[in-house]
Amino acid sequence: METIPSRFVVTSLDHKLTELRVDGLAADWYRRSCEILRGGDRGLLLYKLVRQRQDGTHPLVILDVGTARGFSAITMARALHETDVGSVYTIDVIDHHDARSWQVKQQQSPEPLAGMTLSRSEIWRRWYPREAELVTPIKGQSWAVLGDWCYGPIDVAFIDGDHSRTAVSKELALLSQFMAPGGVIVLDDYFMEATVLRVRSRYVNRLANSIGKRIRGPWPSASRRLRLGWDNEFILVKQKFSGIKAAVQEFLVDQQGGWALEVIRMPERGGSDHEDYSGYSLALLTKT
Ligand SMILES: C[S@@+](CC[C@H](N)C(=O)[O-])C[C@H]1O[C@@H](n2cnc3c(N)ncnc32)[C@H](O)[C@@H]1O
Repeated sequence: METIPSRFVVTSLDHKLTELRVDGLAADWYRRSCEILRGGDRGLLLYKLVRQRQDGTHPLVILDVGTARGFSAITMARALHETDVGSVYTIDVIDHHDARSWQVKQQQSPEPLAGMTLSRSEIWRRWYPREAELVTPIKGQSWAVLGDWCYGPIDVAFIDGDHSRTAVSKELALLSQFMAPGGVIVLDDYFMEATVLRVRSRYVNRLANSIGKRIRGPWPSASRRLRLGWDNEFILVKQKFSGIKAAVQEFLVDQQGGWALEVIRMPERGGSDHEDYSGYSLALLTKT
């Protein structure tokens, strides 16, 4: 019996993007969509994965679970747009015409939707009319929609809805019945960093300085390495694993083979700094 692959592949985003030998997203379009739709470098990967599957043999069927403003759905539709063949089906519990404020608290990057109350359908009509033609929004719980799936074998699926282990387990069990041969399931937040605690303290620094003074005597060069001064910063990082890792591993055991797992380390949120596969990562499950 084959269980979890003991040596699954861990790849950096850059490496994976180079490996996918298709054109990438236009830089201007990507940058603007990151602002309007609150996207990130997952879009670079999704775009190329869709482009790579375009071999002209059949219209592609793309699934997106968790639409939100629609960054992933619209980016994959952008990839389809190059050939105009295929459809993106995107599922969310939020209605397509439900007007709301999409502004995120403590947003650092520019937020063009600040102060606006818009439905997703209005956002798409205003900024992405051509891509939106290739997207079918479906309202509902992902597992309920997948339970009645009637749009044909799925070539690329992006799972980014309810991040709990139970939800993702249900989604994977249903999806496994509908994936096309060679189809790929991408799961966001396979690993994610959760808590970063930064301490800047005058008192801690005073203590560090007094320790430093003592150390500086016998080992003068240590002062430079300790970087003593008022800007000392102590950073504690606590790693939290989403339910997705557990759900994926359970799925691989249940399936007893037939799937390849690749973990992609993402530069956002510190993923690429790590030599191992901790930090923000995506998982790719390819039906072999
Ligand atoms: C992290 S956001 C998705 C972001 C989006 N993929 C993107 O790239 O911009 C998660 C979304 O999943 C939706 N969601 C959560 N649980 C869901 C479920 N069980 N079924 C469908 N959608 C769900 C939420 O309403 C939310 O809009």
